[in-house]
Amino acid sequence: MSHADRIFLETTRRLAPRRLAQDDVHAALQLAQVEPGKPVADLGCGYGRHLRELVQYGHRATGVDRSGLLLAEARAEAPGAALVRADLRALPLHQGSLAAAFCFYSSMFLGSEEDAALALVEAARVLRPGGALVLTSDNPLRLAASPHVKIEHEVPGLGRVVEEGRFDGAVDHVRKTVRLESGEILEAKFHIRYYRPGALAALAYVAGLRFARLHEPLTETTPQLIALLEK
Ligand SMILES: C[S@@+](CC[C@H](N)C(=O)[O-])C[C@H]1O[C@@H](n2cnc3c(N)ncnc32)[C@H](O)[C@@H]1O
Repeated sequence: MSHADRIFLETTRRLAPRRLAQDDVHAALQLAQVEPGKPVADLGCGYGRHLRELVQYGHRATGVDRSGLLLAEARAEAPGAALVRADLRALPLHQGSLAAAFCFYSSMFLGSEEDAALALVEAARVLRPGGALVLTSDNPLRLAASPHVKIEHEVPGLGRVVEEGRFDGAVDHVRKTVRLESGEILEAKFHIRYYRPGALAALAYVAGLRFARLHEPLTETTPQLIALLEK
């Protein structure tokens, strides 16, 4: 059985400080230039760490995710947000209903190439003309420079976490194992698809979106790729 949702929740909650989600949302809003009060969505919102910040900025935010476990946590994390359990490839949102959409940390890109294309088409459909889609991911240039990673650490209050990754140039194949303090072992594999700016622009174009710009130029040391696509 895959423990992907539980591992994501337990490790990210403990290892990612609130400041990181605040910075992610700040950068995304700088790119999207959306006025407070307008309808926005976090596509693949997880347990709601970015939704919480979007609500703080005064946005009318909806979180979409397929995980019941993570959405239940999001209810407590971001009480001011609307939550929808759905697949990003078939959004239960009206055409042209959003001023902006955000997809933090590759949530659209955890499946096949076709899944990624379908999710982008759906995002394009639900955006208003002129609406912004901000996508963030880890930096594919940095991954390509160090394609093999093995990290082991003790996480206080959780247990021993082992993360092994192999980036094949397009997909990062990650295996995470957590040995909980109770002795229980959680294990999951993640296959995260990465797009360099040129490839992202091509994918966006097919979905009816225009690659507008990056938050900052991408080098091997840039922490994240943060891209603005426009309808
Ligand atoms: C890496 S986590 C990131 C979550 C959140 N964006 C964050 O940064 O905290 C990916 C999230 O995307 C969701 N997800 C992945 N593929 C999805 C799909 N096809 N439909 C709906 N949710 C999806 C997962 O359930 C998970 O919550």
